Amino acid sequence: MKFNNSPIGIFDSGLGGLTVFKEIRKMLPCEDLIYFGDTARVPYGNKSKETIIRYSSEIFKFLTDKGVKIIVVACNTASSLALDDLRRNASVPVFGVIEPGAKKAVRASHGKNIAVIGTSATIKSRAYSIAIHKEIESLNGRAGGKPKSAGSFRIVEKACPLFVPLVEEGLLNEEITKNAINYYLSSVIAEKPSCLVLGCTHYPMLKDLILDAAGGNIEIIDSGVETARAVRDYLKENGMLKASGPSGGELFFVSDDMEKFKELGEKFLDRAIKNVSLAEIAK
Ligand code: DGL
Repeated sequence: MKFNNSPIGIFDSGLGGLTVFKEIRKMLPCEDLIYFGDTARVPYGNKSKETIIRYSSEIFKFLTDKGVKIIVVACNTASSLALDDLRRNASVPVFGVIEPGAKKAVRASHGKNIAVIGTSATIKSRAYSIAIHKEIESLNGRAGGKPKSAGSFRIVEKACPLFVPLVEEGLLNEEITKNAINYYLSSVIAEKPSCLVLGCTHYPMLKDLILDAAGGNIEIIDSGVETARAVRDYLKENGMLKASGPSGGELFFVSDDMEKFKELGEKFLDRAIKNVSLAEIAK
């Protein structure tokens, strides 16, 4: 297939999508990756659907102009609100992070309550609830006969708007962050969910603290890990994997402040970041 050796495009509202980038790199070590972080316009999580679609479409064009073979919308907010629009006219396959996270949640929940946390825009969109219900219907349909109802479990969704700034400030082990986690999650944990979906790029950085707050008795689902798996499987099934060879190349583009991206991004990736450039986005 002509696309095999083209890069994978990954984008996010800023640097949070590096948690998804990291998982993709782990699962696909030979692939060339191009990451775009919209650091000039982050956060997306408190913006309107129209604005998020506009920003995402501009980045989408930037990545397709680079000749990518597939695009991963690493940002949960953009996946919740812009994915349908992006897919409508796309010339390459487009993956979001919601569907893979929702699928895993259904498998992990065993019919019990599911919790989802994310930005205000993601939670308001109810994208995870919709994807979870779709997955249940599809599983019921596949089992034969008419799709049954989703059952009596509840999906508990909660916006946690302070988590992103706390992570970006590097306050990962501070009391203020533990307090914020308890503040947002106490009502969620009271619903005794079997699993909790980290529906925002930054939340994997808080995974251990969240697990502690939940008393350890819950499965934490990282949408980034599930998305990386889905992308790998898709490329494999469609004969689009790059032929194995040396480790894949990496290019990072940002819309503002390369230094800050590098400094914080290295904390997200736990290693050095090279090849960062400032990008003009075509309007
Ligand atoms: N990347 C966003 C997300 O996953 C979080 C940061 C933002 O609000 O832009 O929803």
